[in-house]
Order: sequence, then C-alpha cells, then structure tokens
Amino acid sequence: MAEEKPRQFVGKTEFKKGLEGAITNESSISYVDGANGKLIYRGFSIDDLCAGGGGFEETAYLLIDGELPTKAQLGAFSKDLAGRRAIPQEVKDLITLVGSRTHPMNTLRTAVSVLGCLNTKEFEVNVENDLDIAMSLTAQFPTVVAAIQRVRNGQSILDPDPSLGHSEDFMRMMTGEAADPRTAEVMDMALIIHAEHGMNASTFSAMVTNSSLTDMYSSICAGIGSLKGPLHGGANEATLNTFLEIEDPAKTDEWFAAAKEKKQKVMGFGHRVYKAYDPRAVIFDPIAKEFAERAGSGHLHEIAKKLEALVVADLGGKGIFPNVDFFSGVIYNAMGIDTDMFTPIFAVARIAGWSARILEYLPENRLFRPRAVYVGDLESNYTPIDQR
Ligand code: CMC
Repeated sequence: MAEEKPRQFVGKTEFKKGLEGAITNESSISYVDGANGKLIYRGFSIDDLCAGGGGFEETAYLLIDGELPTKAQLGAFSKDLAGRRAIPQEVKDLITLVGSRTHPMNTLRTAVSVLGCLNTKEFEVNVENDLDIAMSLTAQFPTVVAAIQRVRNGQSILDPDPSLGHSEDFMRMMTGEAADPRTAEVMDMALIIHAEHGMNASTFSAMVTNSSLTDMYSSICAGIGSLKGPLHGGANEATLNTFLEIEDPAKTDEWFAAAKEKKQKVMGFGHRVYKAYDPRAVIFDPIAKEFAERAGSGHLHEIAKKLEALVVADLGGKGIFPNVDFFSGVIYNAMGIDTDMFTPIFAVARIAGWSARILEYLPENRLFRPRAVYVGDLESNYTPIDQR
C-alpha cells in the first residue's frame, strides 16, 4: 500500500465554498433581510427612501455620512456633487478611443483608472482623502457612463449641467434630451435601490483590495470588475437577452422546458441571501409593466410574468424567486438604453455603497487574508528540466 503523503491540514476541515455565511466585519450600512425580503439602509427601508422625495443624493448622503441629511445638508451635498460632475478631457479622450470597441464596463473601469492617474493625491490613504475621492467618483460615474453610451452611438459627449439633479442630468447626458419627470423619477429610484446591498461580491472585492491600503481608485476598479460578471450585476443584461430570445409570450413554456432540460440557470432568479422575493424586484415589477406598455414593448413584461410563474412554481420551494435584475432590464430597455449599458447603470448607483463600505472599514482596517485548504502534495520529488 502506498505510503500516505503529509498534508497541510490533518483531519477534516470544515469550510463552505464561496465563503458562504462567513462574517467579514461589523457594519451599520445596510441589512439584507433574506427571509422576509427586506432591504434596509442604515435603518431605513428602501421603500421609504424611494417614496421620500430626497432622491439618490439623499441615499448617497445617508450611506456615506451615516445619517439622514437635513434640508440644508442635502442642499449643500447635492451642490457639491453637481459641482464635481465634470470629467477631464483625458477621460473623454479615452472613452472616444475605446468606448465603441469594448464592453462599457471595461471602459468604465479604465476611466476610473485614468481618473486615479490624474489625481496627484491618489496615494494619500486616509478617511478625508478617500471621502474626497468617493464624492468625486459618485458625481462623475453618471458623466462617464453617459459619455460611453453616446460614443457607442456615434454621438458627441455632453458636459454636465450642475443646475440639474443627479439622475435628471444623467438621463440628459445619455439621451441628449431633458428626461420627462416620470423617467427621471424612475431612474432615481433605480439608483436608490441599487446603491447598496450588504457584503455582495463587488463590495467584498473593493474592500479586500482597499484593505491592503492601496489607493481607492484601484479598489473601485476591483468592484467594477466583479460587478460585471453574469452572476452579479451582469445578470440584468442576460435577463433582457432571455426575454428577447423568447420573443413571444406564447413561447415561454417551451423556452423554460428547454432550459430545464439543459439544467441552465434562469438569469434574474435566485440570490445568495434572499430566499423570498427580492424587495427591489417587487418595486420594479409594476414600473416595468408601465414603462414597457408605454414604449410598445409590453410583450417583454408579459414574458417576464409568464417566466416568473413557471420558475416560482418549479423552484420557489428552494427559495428561488425573481431578483432585482429580473425587471430592471425591461425598464431600461423601454427608456431606450442599450442593453450592455445596464450594468454600468448599476455601477452609477453602487459607487455610493462601495464608497460607504470602504470609508467605514478604513479606520479599523485589517488586511483581508483568508486561507485555502491545500490539498496538493507536500514532498514531491523534483526532476530537473532536462530529465523530463
Ligand atoms: N435558475 C435555476 N436554478 C437556480 C438559479 C437560477 N437562477 N439560482 C439558483 N438555482 C439553483 C441551483 O441550481 C442550485 O440547485 P441545486 O441545489 O439543485 O444544485 C440551488 O438553486 C442553489 O444555487 P447556487 O448557485 O448554489 O446558489 P448561490 O447562493 O451560490 O447563488 C446566485 C446565487 C445569484 C449566484 C444564483 O442564484 C444565480 O446564479 N442566479 C442567476 C444569476 C443572477 O440572476 N444574478 C443576479 C443576482 S441579484 C443582483 C446582484 O446582486 O448582483
């Protein structure tokens, strides 16, 4: 019998793949109540924040500062953000150069890198400087993303109008026209409900990167890279593509049967934490119907509802329900936004959450350094290259 080789870990080592259930730190930024389908930002439900009239600016203030702003504080914060919205010519040049050749998340990630290269205080890692960077990035993300959408469509980049609110100006810079009040309001709600979401993959990526005390731009680039993936923010694109592929509500049953046969995951369903309806999907469902019907794409919402019924009947018992990405694409599509701009819009919102988490962790920073169970050999006999 072959002699057993020594291993790093002796005995049974318990761990869960994907760090499921592992605790990274204490935080008072947001709470995802997976069992009851609730999302709370610093004690306030997203439903109240959406209905409250304070807009994305109020949510960004709340997440980053920790408290709801007074009217005067919100006014000053909104003015500060609006004043930081412009982007340097170098970033416009970059977007012009690569914007129509690559995925917009790649362009956004590279734009953040260039913004870092242009900041002479990039290496000053402290709460004050990181807060300054966080404010600038939160203000500049809509300008960068709008510029990417325009370059991809052969249009010129528009400069911000600081007299407009964050979401209103975002829509104007993207489409070239003033958004109607309902569209601006819904984009604002979209930014509010995507702004923060517990210890998700992109937040964790950003925090792990920042925990080495590198500059904040590098950490945000890590967050963008993670958000892009189809299991995370990229699911909104994949979901709309599913609806477009199904094409006709009458073909939904056939599509789902084939997906089941192939053991294919249905995009826009399931969540690591929610085992009930994602409250963000609940908010978006009626809005998706309203916008799709208004834009003449009501069949996409019909397909979504048929697919929802089929998946919930089949997998609801396992806790698989629609997530935020299930309806968001139908809304953005009805707004005339290109499908591969959906994840960058997610980033326009999530920059607030990434920033808040990085700023919260920085004063108590400890380098993230988990371990893996080594299951390879420890005493292999080395054969020199010329004898192999
Ligand atoms: N369609 C069909 N089955 C599913 C789905 C789905 N979308 N999601 C999970 N399952 C099944 C999965 O096959 C597995 O079944 P079994 O126990 O028989 O092997 C079980 O449910 C557990 O799935 P898992 O992938 O191990 O669970 P997870 O907690 O690691 O995954 C998830 C969470 C979001 C990665 C997963 O649900 C998924 O891949 N969903 C589709 C992609 C998606 O919509 N992502 C957006 C997430 S919300 C927006 C965001 O925060 O980014």
